[in-house]
Amino acid sequence: ALDKGFLKCFQTILGADNTTSGVIFTKSSSSYEPLLKSTIRNARFLKSSVPKPNLIVTPHSLFHIQVALLCSKKSGLQVRVRSGGHDYEGLSYVSNVPFLIIDLVNLRSITINMDEESAWVQSGATVGELYYAIAKRSKVHGFPAGSCSTMGVGGHFSGGGFGTIFRKYGLASDNVIDAEMIDVNGKILNRTLMGEDLFWAIRGGGGSSFGVITAWKIKLVSVPSTVTAFDVSRSLDQGATNLLHKWQTIAPKLPAELFLHTVVGVSNSASQIGKTVVVSFSGLYLGTAENLLPVMQNSFTELGLQSNNFTQMTWIQSVLYFAGFSIDESLEVLLRRNQTSSSFKAKSDYVKDPIPLSGLEGLWKILLLENSPLLILTPYGGIMSEISESEIPFPHRKGNLYGIQYSVNLVSNEEAPKHMDWIRRLYAYMKPYVSKLPRQAYLNYRDLDLGLNQGNSGYEKAKTWGLKYFNNNFESLARVKARVDPGNFFRDEQSIPPL
Ligand code: FDA
Repeated sequence: ALDKGFLKCFQTILGADNTTSGVIFTKSSSSYEPLLKSTIRNARFLKSSVPKPNLIVTPHSLFHIQVALLCSKKSGLQVRVRSGGHDYEGLSYVSNVPFLIIDLVNLRSITINMDEESAWVQSGATVGELYYAIAKRSKVHGFPAGSCSTMGVGGHFSGGGFGTIFRKYGLASDNVIDAEMIDVNGKILNRTLMGEDLFWAIRGGGGSSFGVITAWKIKLVSVPSTVTAFDVSRSLDQGATNLLHKWQTIAPKLPAELFLHTVVGVSNSASQIGKTVVVSFSGLYLGTAENLLPVMQNSFTELGLQSNNFTQMTWIQSVLYFAGFSIDESLEVLLRRNQTSSSFKAKSDYVKDPIPLSGLEGLWKILLLENSPLLILTPYGGIMSEISESEIPFPHRKGNLYGIQYSVNLVSNEEAPKHMDWIRRLYAYMKPYVSKLPRQAYLNYRDLDLGLNQGNSGYEKAKTWGLKYFNNNFESLARVKARVDPGNFFRDEQSIPPL
């Protein structure tokens, strides 16, 4: 009945002459399932037991979004907005109440203004499409967003968005200069019309609490014509523990042009020595190999890097490199929207004081209990320490040495509980070594273990997870929410409650 009410409302507003075919997909449509699955990036939510939307709406215009919002209000269907579908907990396409998805797949134009060094990007575009469009226009411009090319700019920019040049230029959301969105009343707003408080909130506070963000205006940044990448791995018997221990204090202090992150995993391949922890030190330098060599040799002698560890490339090739493609691949691979997904659980932390050697040794013991653990340690510092904690809602700035993302492959439905237990145990182990009061987390690495909205449970309850993602910015976010969506129409398990 809810679906019928919605469909009738939509058709009435559109008028008898306009078809909803290709715009609204019901469960009986043959396109419904492929469309739903098209951007599910965590296979955990492909299971048949996971609730599915009553309808999927793929607007071709802003008017379609306005109508969808109005009709979902009338019919009582909850709305979930999906851009790239990378939400770790599937919040853009799963809900426990009757709902529909507004999927922005058709709204993905990118318009670059080279004179202004800016671009308007519609929310359904992927970061890969954005990087591609920039590279087609200029060899010396780039944009500081994340590495995975299939992420949607809708969710990614609204939750922060960091990548290999963020120590130099900040987050994607630090580089947003205007936005277009549709509010709960169906009004189309730009920066001036929405007001500075709402414009502040959508740059890091997550999009899903405030409306449907339809496009972002971003400022492009300068990149040199040659950049240099490297990736070297060390196992425990090659001194990985001491190297990682040193890395913790070195990487956040390196020049902003140099990004040196570490990826920690477990290798089963060294059969004689058995299973071992392997740390890979992987970097990008905005400059030539010749200039990078002395920086690495002086600051991190122990890693022992030589010229032959470095590969020079263009910035867009570095995008391919960090997205997992070969740098010789055609740039068109950045336009691919399909990607295989695994079933995973992830969590995040921030580290403010170096973890002692004993702490790392204990960590290795836990990692060795799993087959496919993955930790990505991202160094902060650089411009991230110069931007104030309240500049945008993303609060993780000065004082953070690095962020950690923990993830584990859940393998199969049967095995999932075992791996879930493991990652929660790892998270408990890390408590003494990471940020405290609150223990901070990154919104874009969504983790429902941190807490949930239940019914209209309100601000006090939401603080359990809200302070972790936003720290002191949480209260301001809740006040913006109260101004722009007091009835809490845009909501999910971790949306900002009105205060
Ligand atoms: P999705 O469409 O699932 O949306 C995420 C959230 O934003 C949902 O709550 C959704 O409702 C809301 N939303 C989406 N579009 C909206 C819109 N137009 N208006 C209002 N609300 C909207 N992060 C990072 O910083 N750096 C990185 O390198 C990576 N790498 C990475 C790799 C992989 C494989 C994954 C799965 C994820 C990452 N991430 C990341 C995390 C990523 O930034 C995060 O999942 C983003 O929210 C993804 O945005 P999507 O639009 O793809 O997600």
